[in-house]
Amino acid sequence: MTINVLNIKNGPTISKYIYGHFSEHLGRCIYEGIYVGEDSEIPNVNGIRTDVVEALKEIQIPVLRWPGGCFADEYHWKDGIGPKENRKKIVNTHWGGVTENNHFGTHEFFELVRQLDCEAYVNGNVGSGTVQEMQEWVEYITMAGESPMANLRRENGQEEPWKMKFFGVGNESWGCGGNMRPEYYADLYRQYQTYVRQYGTEKIYKIACGPNIDDYYWMDTLMKQAGPWFDGISLHHYALTGEWLDKGPATGFPESQWWSLMKSAKKMDELIQKHSIIMDKYDPEQRIGLIVDEWGSWLAVEPGTNPGFLYQQNTIRDAMVAAITLNIFNNHANRVYMANLAQTVNVLQSVILTEGKAMVKTPTYHVFNMYKNHQDAELVDYYGELPENISLSVSKKEHKLTVTICHYGLENEQELQLNFETEIHKYAGKILTTKVMDAHNTFGNPNNVKIEDYENIRTEGRKLNIKLPAMSVVSLELEV
Ligand code: AHR
Repeated sequence: MTINVLNIKNGPTISKYIYGHFSEHLGRCIYEGIYVGEDSEIPNVNGIRTDVVEALKEIQIPVLRWPGGCFADEYHWKDGIGPKENRKKIVNTHWGGVTENNHFGTHEFFELVRQLDCEAYVNGNVGSGTVQEMQEWVEYITMAGESPMANLRRENGQEEPWKMKFFGVGNESWGCGGNMRPEYYADLYRQYQTYVRQYGTEKIYKIACGPNIDDYYWMDTLMKQAGPWFDGISLHHYALTGEWLDKGPATGFPESQWWSLMKSAKKMDELIQKHSIIMDKYDPEQRIGLIVDEWGSWLAVEPGTNPGFLYQQNTIRDAMVAAITLNIFNNHANRVYMANLAQTVNVLQSVILTEGKAMVKTPTYHVFNMYKNHQDAELVDYYGELPENISLSVSKKEHKLTVTICHYGLENEQELQLNFETEIHKYAGKILTTKVMDAHNTFGNPNNVKIEDYENIRTEGRKLNIKLPAMSVVSLELEV
């Protein structure tokens, strides 16, 4: 099959924030996975695991969303500041009913963001918080001069304000964030966001809670009634193997669940297309970004683990989900401005798993590594019929093209010919593939699934021929 790549035309920029992540106070994501405390034997800087920070920097994490999720609408930020021994202990009602000691709070989050050198996306509490509480949090974080909250921040050891680029006004307000109707939330959004003041020179990018999956009525209502007051609107869609209440296992699954997960992941394309049509109706200039701030595979928890902790293994099948979804986001770069994989460490489709001192990079991690050159590159269009079970996206930065291809079929090699508009001078290929459909990395065998150089490629002038094994993700770097 032949695909013609239109690499002379300039496309929209693929926002680097599409490669963002999400960390909630859930299970072992924040505690153990990211934050171990200053006194831990696990190497850390100011309580934050060094191995995890280094791994996330390698994939160029551009933005991190925190503190939830459902947790965000029960989080009262003042519980998480000041001396740790005085911080309030609360119950994490959503996630396992465990005690939350609030040792990871606002200061610790911004320290993490500093170490990662990425942008902060803070999600505020609408469900159980007040307008004043939200207003004061923004003041605490961003106010440089004299003010009650800026002075409180200084008393707690932080002289300068932090940079907070993104702020979410509520999470899943249609569900765990308050079970609201869209008309009611739209009004609340307008009220709460009024007090998300800009104290510094940096504009805060305000994000409204958007629809769950295909709730097009929610999108329409929000765009109509509150659109002028937000910069971005969220969308949540998780890839499932079947019914919400009957999640398939992460390993040892039947072939049918390979395919049902692929189908569910690919639905993201239809969702973005249909939500974009509604957004275009109210926002033809495409000022408002679609923020897919929760996505990824949601599978059954690992046997013997706390069901409220959402700890699942991560296999080559999840790598396919990541590769397909990131290609979809790239290909909708005109509307999708940010996306945040759920969740960074030890929860759902993690890029990293930890156990005590040990850390493992998952197959999904490797996909983010192979795709990182798409960040802030120009999207390149293509036409032609893609072979069965192939997903593709192409981008350009000066004379370099990045091509990412996923062959999510379970058997048979696929051949693909790419015709470019200019000559290929140099190329390099990488591949992530396995022979087994639930291959994964464990603490005992952390490099079972890993990136390798790929040479099954031929080029001639403007043509490139590539053979794609089943269950593979390939990235190509081309000089044209
Ligand atoms: O990511 C896990 C949960 O999924 C989040 O807390 C919530 O927003 C969503 O339902």
